[in-house]
Amino acid sequence: MKFWQSWDRRRRVIGVTGTLVMLWGVTQGFAWLIAPSELELTAEGRELFVHEWTPNDPLSGEGDGLGPVFNANSCAACHAQSGVGGAGGNKHNVRSFAVLPNRNDSNLYGGVVHANATAKHLLETDEQVLGQYPIIPGGVTVIGNCQVRLEDFNPVEFEEINTPALFGAGLIDEISDWSIRQNAWGQSLTALGKEFHGDFDATMGKVRVLPDGRIGKFGWKAQFATVEEFVATACAVEVGLTNSYRRQDAPGQFTADAEAAYDMTGYQLDSLTTFCLTLERPELVMPRNSKEHSAVVRGRQVFAEIGCAECHTPDLGGVKGLYSDLCLHNISDPDHNGYVREPEVPMPSNVPGLADWKTPPLWGVADSAPYMHDGSSPTLEDVIEKHGGDAKHTREQYLKGISKKDRENLIAFLKALRAPPAGKPVAQIDEK
Ligand code: HEC
Ligand code: HEC
Repeated sequence: MKFWQSWDRRRRVIGVTGTLVMLWGVTQGFAWLIAPSELELTAEGRELFVHEWTPNDPLSGEGDGLGPVFNANSCAACHAQSGVGGAGGNKHNVRSFAVLPNRNDSNLYGGVVHANATAKHLLETDEQVLGQYPIIPGGVTVIGNCQVRLEDFNPVEFEEINTPALFGAGLIDEISDWSIRQNAWGQSLTALGKEFHGDFDATMGKVRVLPDGRIGKFGWKAQFATVEEFVATACAVEVGLTNSYRRQDAPGQFTADAEAAYDMTGYQLDSLTTFCLTLERPELVMPRNSKEHSAVVRGRQVFAEIGCAECHTPDLGGVKGLYSDLCLHNISDPDHNGYVREPEVPMPSNVPGLADWKTPPLWGVADSAPYMHDGSSPTLEDVIEKHGGDAKHTREQYLKGISKKDRENLIAFLKALRAPPAGKPVAQIDEK
């Protein structure tokens, strides 16, 4: 007898399947009922963001809490300007270092010299880094038939890194890799067209492709693809909180401590990430006064006319008013922000050059001084004057190609790009 000809069997199969489907439905419904809502996660994440961690903190379970090496005892200690999640001053710059590719090792390494430690003898110093990666002595070597004299080479390059604001990070998180690539292709095509007409000043950004093929969007070097990964790393590196993604650094070792116990649960990490993802986006705030209003309108035109918008792309991947292509550019200039030396052997092809930095989104820029990756520019005027390299043509336009009035209009426009109003809740939490 064929299976479906037996009503009895059919009924049994349908009965069992039906019960299973029903059970599945109930557990799903139940999971949905007991799962924390985004609002709860955001509220708890905010608590964690402002929480001042201590050694053996009660919130850190089996872990050792703050440190042993750390930069500050809370996220909010650095991310604070214009409200929780904002930018930070130079006082809290992070001291990082790169070990440049050299004749003994063609890889690039990096790390952070932490500003603080839970005990004095654990405090890290530049000298420790230099001891770990000492100067490579020069000498005479034979290449082919030639004797070549090699100079001493110090592979270590220190860098100060300034704290960016996190407002609107959730929107950046959603920008697709495709939109970033597409925009970068557009830039290259325009550049090609200009070169065809003998104009070699055109702008071409480098998309940061991470080892796993995703595109980096966060960090001054675009070194992370998602807010979640950055948050987990910030917990470990800035505050010394080991989590499932990244362990805290071992004092004086400048790498993760493989033995450190977890300071955070998955739930804590989730809520902190959700808080960062739901931070309100910055806004263009139009002045009421009609004269100031027209200055901002004209400033926005000037911004496009003199080429700022080539890198500071106004809209990207459906996010309006971002003012970034999220690509890397070299805008360093020997006359302005110092000469960046070359590594001894070429940089690995998949990492940014030393002088390459991600175009920072300009939304909220009025409330995020000081500027540039190292916080070296106190004012917006100074920032523009320090735009060299690939952005030299826009600086020349700004300094010589436009009227004093238009220079003022441009600054008025940048000053209208504000952090979310302090009075308004930073997270969506209070809106409902
Ligand atoms: C000592 C100051 C300091 C502390 C403390 C700190 N940060 Fe940061 N934060 C920075 C700096 C500096 C950067 C830029 C780093 C880079 O680009 O390499 C940054 C970048 C970020 C970014 C990426 C933003 C972007 O758009 O590129 C996120 C997200 C972030 N921090 C979250 C956190 C969280 C969450 C905490 C708390 C666990 C935290 N930070 C603690 C200084 C700090
Ligand atoms: C070739 C690409 C490019 C062009 C063109 C360009 N910029 Fe930038 N801009 C960058 C990069 C890259 C940085 C970050 C450099 C660094 O941190 O060292 C930056 C930084 C900035 C900052 C600092 C933001 C912050 O959060 O620290 C401001 C403001 C700014 N640019 C405004 C402008 C204006 C105004 C123009 C036009 C006059 C302009 N830029 C043209 C690439 C560009």
